[in-house]
Amino acid sequence: MSTLWHGRFEGDPAEELLAFTVSLPFDRRLWRDDLRGSRAHARMLAKVGLLTASELASVLDALDVVEAELAEDRFTFLASDEDIHTAVERRVTELAGAAGGKLHTGRSRNDQVATDLRLFTRRELGDVARRVVALQRVLLDRAREAGETYLPGYTHLQRAQPVLLAHHLLAHAWTVGRDVDRLLDCRRRLDVSPLGAGALAGSSLPLDPRATATELGFARVFENSLDAVSDRDFVAEALFCLTLLGVHLSRVAEEVILWSSEEVGFLRLDDSYSTGSSMMPQKKNPDVAELTRAKAARLIGHLTGVLAMLKGLPLAYNRDLQDDKEPLFDAFDQTKLALSAMGGLLATSRFERRAMQAAADSPYLAATDLAEWLVGRGMPFREAHALVGALVRDSLKRNVALTELVAAHPSLGTEAAALLAPGVAVNRRTTPGGAGREAVATQLQRFAQFLEATEHRLPVE
Ligand code: ARG
Repeated sequence: MSTLWHGRFEGDPAEELLAFTVSLPFDRRLWRDDLRGSRAHARMLAKVGLLTASELASVLDALDVVEAELAEDRFTFLASDEDIHTAVERRVTELAGAAGGKLHTGRSRNDQVATDLRLFTRRELGDVARRVVALQRVLLDRAREAGETYLPGYTHLQRAQPVLLAHHLLAHAWTVGRDVDRLLDCRRRLDVSPLGAGALAGSSLPLDPRATATELGFARVFENSLDAVSDRDFVAEALFCLTLLGVHLSRVAEEVILWSSEEVGFLRLDDSYSTGSSMMPQKKNPDVAELTRAKAARLIGHLTGVLAMLKGLPLAYNRDLQDDKEPLFDAFDQTKLALSAMGGLLATSRFERRAMQAAADSPYLAATDLAEWLVGRGMPFREAHALVGALVRDSLKRNVALTELVAAHPSLGTEAAALLAPGVAVNRRTTPGGAGREAVATQLQRFAQFLEATEHRLPVE
C-alpha cells in the first residue's frame, strides 16, 4: 500500500488506521473544487517558472481526464486514496508522469482543503440564499392572495388582537430576509484564498498566492499562513447562519402544525404535502412541518459539534479539522430540503378564512380598541384599561355579551359598541408597520421592493 506520504515510513499503515482516517467517502464531494484549485495552482507554478509550458499542458490535460472520469463516475479510487486531494494527485501523476509529480509543489493538503472548502461553502451559501428568496416569493404571493382575511394575533398563545393574514405571513418573510442577509455576509467574509499558505508557514519557493486567488475569484488573499490553514470560522459561521434559518423555518413549521390541527383548523394541507397513517385510515399528518422542526435540532447539533471541535485546537492544522465536513455538508443538504418542502407546503395549503375570522371576531379581541377609543376622548390610558377590564370581567362572570355592556355604559355607548363588530378592530391598527388594512398595503409594497433588491444582491455563482 503506497500513500502519498509513505517515504518516511518503513512499514505499511494499519488497516484500522486507514479505515479511521480516510475522508474520501465524504470529501469526494469536493472534487470539482479540488480540480479548480489544482488548475489555478498549476498555472501559478508555470507563471513563476516552477513548471514549464509543456509540463503545465500535461498537468492540465491530466486534470481534464480526471474531471471527465469523475463526472462520468468512472474514476477508479484505490484503497490508498485517503481523501479526494490525494486521489486526484495520484491519478494526475499516473496520467502526466513526472509533470504530475510537480503538481503539489509548494502546496499542502492543509491549504488545499481550506481552499476547496471555501470554494464549496461560497457556492452553497449563494444557493441557499437563492432558495430562501424563493420561499419569500411564496410568502409574498400568499400574502397578496390573502387580501383582507384576518385571524387572531396571539401572545402567550392566547388570542390578543386581530391581524391581517398577510401581516402574519409577511412577518415570516421579513424574518428569513435577515437570514439571506446573514448568508451573504458570511459569504463575503469567507471570500479569502488560503492557497499558498503551504502546510502552515508558506514556502521557500517563489509562489504567488495573489495569482491563484485571482484565478479562483477570491476577493482577498490570506494575510497569515497559520491563520489561513487553521481558520474554520467560515464553517462555524455558515453553520450558524443555516441553524438560525433552520430555527426560523421550525417556527413556521410549528404554526403549520398548530394551524392544521382540527382544534385550530386555520390551515388545510394539500394532499400532496400531507402524509397518512399506516393504521388509522382517517389521518392526514403534517410530517413535512414536523421534520422541519427536527432539522432545526439537527442543525443546532452540527453547529455546537463544530464549535466544540474547534475550541481546543492549537495552531495550526490538526486532523480534527477534517471532521468539519460532514456536519457542514449535511447542514446544507438538510436546509435545502427543508426550504423546498416548506415552500411547496406553503404554496399549496389552503387558509381557512372562515375559521380564522370566527376566532378573531370574539369581541374580547377589541378590548384594547375600546380602551384606546376612551383615550381618544381624553381618559388616561390606565383608567381606560381598568374600565374595560372590569367590563370584560363582568361579561365573563355574568355571561352577558360584552357588546351589550359597552352599549349600556355611560362612558362608552353605541358608538363604542360598534368597535366590537366583526372585522372592525383589525382595521383600527393604522400605525406604520401595524396589522391593519392600510398599513399592510404599504408593507406589501415595501416588501416587494425589498425582495427585488435582495434578488439583485444574489451572487451569480
Ligand atoms: N483530508 C484532510 C482534511 O480534510 C486533508 C488534510 C490532511 N493533512 C494532514 N496534515 N494530515 O483535513
